[in-house]
Amino acid sequence: MPLSAAEVNQRKRAIPVEGVLPAFHHRWSPRSFADKAVPSTLVEKAFEAARWAASSYNEQPWRYLVGFKGDATYDKILSVLVPFNQAWAKTAPVLILGVASTKFAHNGEKNGYGLYDLSAASAYFTLQAAELGLYTHSMAGFDHAAALKVLDVPEDFIVGAVIALGYQGEPAALGNEQMIATEEAPRQRKPVSEFVFSSWGVPAKL
Ligand SMILES: Cc1cc2nc3c(=O)[nH]c(=O)nc-3n(C[C@H](O)[C@H](O)[C@H](O)COP(=O)(O)O)c2cc1C
Repeated sequence: MPLSAAEVNQRKRAIPVEGVLPAFHHRWSPRSFADKAVPSTLVEKAFEAARWAASSYNEQPWRYLVGFKGDATYDKILSVLVPFNQAWAKTAPVLILGVASTKFAHNGEKNGYGLYDLSAASAYFTLQAAELGLYTHSMAGFDHAAALKVLDVPEDFIVGAVIALGYQGEPAALGNEQMIATEEAPRQRKPVSEFVFSSWGVPAKL
């Protein structure tokens, strides 16, 4: 018997740490989305958070194409996903493609930090979405060249990721044993000591 959405949600929550914003611990990436539209005002609020990310030269090189289920942009984004992602992402009411400029607007020089800045803005987006009771699932599994083409993205932009957005659905609705197992699995992370060093490979004393 698959776990219910509420049970899975409880299992996915990381143990709270005092002083750390709760959204960091309760954000997780479902594949099952409920058949429930997301009000555009909430999507706007999540982008309001993204808006305030830091960026190199404050260029804000991120751009997002947002598709709501039923519109042409949604269908275009869905069409470029790999079949595995299409199978579950088609239940999400919103699909978003994030792209980044490869050039600085202020001097036309190469911007090597566009993807870094897009990622920061997207992280803010996903955390704000979590704060609003929404769920996000990022994807790299899509045809990047086709995405740029079908969405008429100018040539000095590169793709980052697609983000599925919506409300959490019931795991059983995934209808695929492997996907249900992943949906129910507890979240795993490396301890801080494995990625914060004082010198290479030596955990920093924090
Ligand atoms: C850049 C990026 C690309 C990802 N690509 C995919 C993908 O193509 N398909 C998929 O099912 N999940 C994808 N994921 C989701 C990750 O597998 C997931 O975030 C990770 O396992 C951690 O789980 P959590 O977000 O629930 O904490 C991607 C996540 C990120 C950030």
